[in-house]
Amino acid sequence: MKFIKDKFSIYSTPEILAESFAEHLRIITDEIIYQKGKADIALSGGSSPKLMYKILAGKYSIKISWSKINFYWADERCVPSDSSESNYGEAERILFSKLNCNLNLYRIKGEADPEKESERYSRLLKNNLPLRNGFPVFDIILLGMGEDGHTASIFPGQLELLSSEKFCDASVNPLSNQSRVTITGSVINNADRVYFLVTGNNKSKVVKEISERGSESLIYPAAYISQDNGEINWYLDSQAASLLK
Ligand code: 6PG
Repeated sequence: MKFIKDKFSIYSTPEILAESFAEHLRIITDEIIYQKGKADIALSGGSSPKLMYKILAGKYSIKISWSKINFYWADERCVPSDSSESNYGEAERILFSKLNCNLNLYRIKGEADPEKESERYSRLLKNNLPLRNGFPVFDIILLGMGEDGHTASIFPGQLELLSSEKFCDASVNPLSNQSRVTITGSVINNADRVYFLVTGNNKSKVVKEISERGSESLIYPAAYISQDNGEINWYLDSQAASLLK
């Protein structure tokens, strides 16, 4: 496992974290769009990004060049998009439906067969994104982390999904037995910028163990994630960071 340098940004509340990250996202996407004319971003699901979606849909609705961003998903629950469980569906309802502009949204189809959808999405990534080291390159990937240390939909016990030759694969949440489609760790670690947004006291133990980079962290898929340069940016609220030294 390669050496990983953690960079922690800690905020007193989830709201302040979401505000700060929304501003960071505006700055970064402006830079990328200036350099490339567009930006390719993969979003994750769960509750953590929802606060940020609300802020982006508000005062950032006219501050970001939305039509120049291609939005993808790092993972999806195998549910219809009208389900409150749908990562795409929630982003659409909270953020994208509030933006009055052309949008480029490339959702994972949660209603499809997981294996077939993994193959379709892999082909889409290959056709739409530049390749580096044989894998598609995202400009930005936003990740959450579960209290079991999963990220995207790569769960403990599924570490083979971290180094898979595939771009996407089907997985299952072992706690809920819910089918998922996820991009693999090979794609995540091939991105130019990867950010973890983690809030809540229930994540503090895993955050601490990963920060110490000891052997006990090796059961957590999130511990294997880093950018190409070996760095990883964590945006934490004070609760998730409460056990950090
Ligand atoms: C998903 C996510 C998953 C999520 C973490 C954190 O589809 O569930 O992509 O990786 O980011 O479980 O979720 P919370 O923010 O809800 O704790």
